[in-house]
Amino acid sequence: LPSDAAAVCVVQARMGSTRLPGKVLADIDGRPMLRFMLDRLAALTVAKLVVATSALDRDDPIEAVATAAGVAVVRGSEHDVLDRFRLAVETYPAPVVIRLTGDCPLTDASLVTDVLARHRDTAADYTSNVFPRTFPKGLDVEVMTRAALDEAVEHARLPIEREHVTPYLYRHPERFRLANLSSGLLLGDERWTVDTADDLTFVRGLVERMGGDGHFTWRQAFECVGATASRPPGALWLRPVSAADADRVREWRNDPESLRFSRTTEPVGAATHEAWFATRLDNPQSRFWVGVVDDVAVGFVRIDVADAQGRVSLAVDPSERGRGHGTAMLVAAQRQLALDLQVDVVTAEVSPDNAASRRAFLAAGFTHQGVVDGFERFAWNNARQ
Ligand SMILES: CC(C)(COP(=O)(O)OP(=O)(O)OC[C@H]1O[C@@H](n2cnc3c(N)ncnc32)[C@H](O)[C@@H]1OP(=O)(O)O)[C@@H](O)C(=O)NCCC(=O)NCCS
Repeated sequence: LPSDAAAVCVVQARMGSTRLPGKVLADIDGRPMLRFMLDRLAALTVAKLVVATSALDRDDPIEAVATAAGVAVVRGSEHDVLDRFRLAVETYPAPVVIRLTGDCPLTDASLVTDVLARHRDTAADYTSNVFPRTFPKGLDVEVMTRAALDEAVEHARLPIEREHVTPYLYRHPERFRLANLSSGLLLGDERWTVDTADDLTFVRGLVERMGGDGHFTWRQAFECVGATASRPPGALWLRPVSAADADRVREWRNDPESLRFSRTTEPVGAATHEAWFATRLDNPQSRFWVGVVDDVAVGFVRIDVADAQGRVSLAVDPSERGRGHGTAMLVAAQRQLALDLQVDVVTAEVSPDNAASRRAFLAAGFTHQGVVDGFERFAWNNARQ
């Protein structure tokens, strides 16, 4: 049996949008954007496809579009979107729940199926393709067990956890088993979602170039439009670590300076490192990136997540130190973390003798919080909270 059959797919949509009001009804290929998306999702073989919108009058057009597409609708709170999901799964029960958002018209049914398969194969509580992000933004798929969703419904209290539905799960890798699907490509900086007028122009152009009835896969679209994110010469950007980085990460970690300033001053052995590193690939409980400047890997930054808090580790290649890369990696990591809601505070522990590290954290906007067990503690608040 395909894993889809056990799933209910919930698309959240509303007219209210601060940047582009009514965007879900904006015309794409002669149809309202939401209709375009639902038509593409008709290829899914899930037990039920449901649009979850608010009970506000202004969301009546959303119900009308969904109904015209033959898709079920539930209506609930505008801001407590988690409660809308509760309503959706109580109305259409299934052991697995898929979350999609109505401002992502390029959402690909075959990708939804791939994330579902990953979810089944890993036996995770929550599986997505965004931690780390290797697909264009706008192809986000989140899959969770009904049991995990029920726990979030019952326990999530913070407004962001209610509004964004899933933070209660992915902020707590200590409680929920998280998994990720990677594209195998470095497309996390591409924008295929519709949040601004520019985004809408991009998506319309893409759909026009693809032609036909809009039933193309994301890979076909990518082959057509290619990557558009700009990476200026000399600028640092972050890519998720891959298996090929194992040796260089170990070298950076075992360099004498790194050891001198770490709590464990012993070098990490090859076997121990290999085993540990393998568990960190595509693991949403560690945000783990390599800093790249002009195609050269200059260092790593890692944020280990537990209980909505992140702990930073970083090291720069010994031959690349003192050129601003350490600071730039911290700033780039902050930018990544501000795009999602996985952590609210990021902390670091720095040896009192580690002047470069202390200055890098200060330059990136971390504040000094005092001394804990002989190490300086620095913290940064993820502003989006
Ligand atoms: C700490 C580390 C990541 C900093 O990265 P970096 O790329 O060398 O740092 P930057 O070039 O961004 O410089 C950061 C700040 O430190 C200063 N700095 C750089 N090297 C320095 C040194 N050897 N001594 C004192 N200050 C130094 C820079 O002038 C800059 O300060 P400013 O912003 O006030 O001008 C890097 O030195 C490293 O990998 N060290 C070994 C591993 C380690 O200690 N990791 C951190 C553990 S908490």
